[in-house]
This record gives sequence, structure tokens and C-alpha cells, in this order.
Amino acid sequence: MKSIKVGLLGIGTVGAGTFQVLQRNQEEIMRRAGRGIEIAMVADLDVARAKQITNGQCTVVNDAREVVNHPDIDIVIELIGGYGIAKELVLQAIANGKHVVTANKALLAVHGNEIFKAAQDKGVMVAFEAAVAGGIPIIKALREGLTANRIQWIAGIINGTTNFILSEMRDKGLDFATALKDAQRLGYAEADPTFDIEGMDAAHKATLMSAIAFGIPVQFNKAYVEGIQHLQAVDIRYAEQLGYRIKLLGITRRALVNGVEGIELRVHPTLIPTKRLIANVEGAMNAVLVQGDAVGATLYYGKGAGSEPTASAVIADLVDITRLATADPEHRVPHLAFQPNAINDIPVLAISEITTSYYLRIQVADLPGVLADITRILADATISIDAMLQKEPAEGETQTDIIMLTHQTQEKNIMAAIATIEALPTVVGTVTKIRLEALN
Ligand code: HSE
Repeated sequence: MKSIKVGLLGIGTVGAGTFQVLQRNQEEIMRRAGRGIEIAMVADLDVARAKQITNGQCTVVNDAREVVNHPDIDIVIELIGGYGIAKELVLQAIANGKHVVTANKALLAVHGNEIFKAAQDKGVMVAFEAAVAGGIPIIKALREGLTANRIQWIAGIINGTTNFILSEMRDKGLDFATALKDAQRLGYAEADPTFDIEGMDAAHKATLMSAIAFGIPVQFNKAYVEGIQHLQAVDIRYAEQLGYRIKLLGITRRALVNGVEGIELRVHPTLIPTKRLIANVEGAMNAVLVQGDAVGATLYYGKGAGSEPTASAVIADLVDITRLATADPEHRVPHLAFQPNAINDIPVLAISEITTSYYLRIQVADLPGVLADITRILADATISIDAMLQKEPAEGETQTDIIMLTHQTQEKNIMAAIATIEALPTVVGTVTKIRLEALN
């Protein structure tokens, strides 16, 4: 059988990795796919560099439209990124009856419903393993391997840049700004790291996992997003003393609020017990913990970015599409794991409605009755204290920190209690609040 023809849009780090791995493992991949997979066209604005990488083995053009409109191309790999031209090209490729492989989490998290609908109508596949956690086959696991399960929750370290920064802050006692500079110097963080450190990248990935785990539409606009940019070294230290590590987690979970089902979808710094395996995922590595009702907890670990790890996911999608290209569209694995007519509208909950535990750092004047006032406010709000830490004031100081871990409560409940605590004359400034997940 003749090879399936692929057009690659963007031959940057991941594109070059895809080209190289496909060449290197050509025979092995062909034995798996049942036919050859050939990158026949590459589009890149830097034509000279693209020609150097491809070494005369395919056509190189600088206009991506030539690739998506070319009649010989069966699959388009979109590695341009962003929402602009990438969206236009993906929709054009679909309209032309081509299958699409993309690593573009931002595009799918924001415009996924439109893109998947267009693909469904046209009977083509849109595959996105590389969009979540790079080389870790988490989409495959959620969509196929765990298909027997009612998935209960997912918690993932799905941004390597922030995990690297948090590891550096903890290991070396650095503040956020210094750890970020180190990460940039070492190439772990982009020159403009906003998307990573403010949690947007992780939220895009959590949004996609939420859709395929629960059979709901892709709803990035409902995700709660809080990054690590305001995290202080002192809280990392106190968390360690209490047996916890702080990670930026993407969390999505089924919840019941007053007997009504909802979905939590949130990204924020989170205390997790140091003894959990996922708490020990350090540096730029990614990991995703999935809780299913039948299987229990499963953990997926690996490189979430980089040339060949991400290429590994892109090529896995190419092989899947190659195997299924001739199948009746109705008999393929659905884009979002659930049949399109079975997607339901369980609402994504506002952050005020979620339930979790909390770490509180309260700066207080070291006077009699201060602790009693705070515990009274928490008790009145039916918030139960799980652990507490108070250090003697430093030499010559009259203020100290009280650290409390609470049992689970609703976010709006803790926010009301924090407002009352902050109004106490003995409390200095604002209360630091970090969510805590036991992950058991
Ligand atoms: N910038 C991401 C990270 C990788 O730091 O994990 C691509 O999503």
C-alpha cells in the first residue's frame, strides 16, 4: 500500500523532532501502522532552515495554505501554535477532508468545540495527544485505556516550567523572581513566561482532560486559573515543615453541590502530602494522577515538553490516523472520548462552589487571645482545623505567623472566614490562602 502523505506546518523544535524520529524509526513505525508515513511537504517561514532539516527529502514551502490545499496531502500536522492563523489552517484542512494532528492546546481549549464539530461533519480525525503533557500518552489513557471507568478526578503537574521553578524554590530556598531568572537562563522558561507562570498553559491542558474524562464540552472560559507568580518562599518552607509540597496542579473533578452534579476545573498552587508519588515529581517533568471508580488511582509520568518527547506523541497520532483512515468515521474513537450525541452539559462550577482543604498563613500581633479569636471565627463557620504551626516571634519582633491547615470546606465559606479574620485588629495585612489536596 502506498504511504500516507503528511504535510507539516511549522518545523521548529517539535516539527524537527517529528521529522527526525519518523525517519529514524521508519521501519518500526511502518510495521505498526501497516503502511509508510511520509512527510511529503513542510511549510515554514524560515525556508532555508526547513530545507536544511529536511535535507531534500520533501517539498518545502513558506505558505502553509499550499500544504492544507494540496490534493496529495492526507494528514496535516499543525505545529504553529496560537489561535490566529493556526485556527484558519486547521479549519481549512478539515474542510478539504484532511485529518489533523495538533499540539496546540490553546487552540483546542478555546475553539475545540467548533473544530471537533467541523471534523465530525466532514468525517475526519483531529488528534491531539501532544497537546497535553507532551510525551505522556495521557489522552490515549483517558480516552481508551480507562474507558471502562467512571472517572472521578484528575490532578496533574502539566506545566514543566512552573514545576522546575517550584523545585528550585524548594531545593535552594530561592524566591520566585530569582528562580524564574534561573529557569530562563537554563532554557526551562521562555523569555516571556507569562502563559506558563500564570497557569494558562496548565489550564488549557486541564480543560482538554476535563472534556474527555467527563464527556462535557471544552470550556476553557469556565476554568479557574491562578499561577505561581505570587507564591512566597516562606509558604514553601512552612508546607515542608507540615509534611506537604507545593505544586501547580491542574485539577478536574466530579462534585455534588447541594445534591446537584458539577465539575470542578481549576489550576492553582496546591499543597499535597510529600508522601504521595506525584509530590516527588521534580524539575521540568510532568505527571498526571487519574482516579477511576474501577481501576482506582493510576499515575502517568514523563517529559511534558521537548523535541522528541513531543514528537513521540505527534507520531503516535499519525499512526492512529493511518490505521483508522479507511474505517467508517462512526467506528473511530470519538474526538472527546464520548459519542458526540452523548456529550452532556454538567456545569463547570465557579471557584466559590468548590470544596477542598486550605493552608492559611496569618500574620498576627503576639498578644493574648489572638489565636482564640481566629479559632472562634473558624469554628463559627464550621471549619475544622487539621493542623497548626506557630513559631516564636523572631528576636526583637512582636509579630509572628500562625499557620493552619483546615479540613475540607467550601471555598465561599473559607473566603468569608478569611474576611472576618482580616478585620481583627490583631491581624496584620492579608491572610495567605493556598488550597490543599490530600489526593487519596
Ligand atoms: N510550556 C510548557 C511547559 C510546555 O512548560 O510545560 C508546552 O505546553
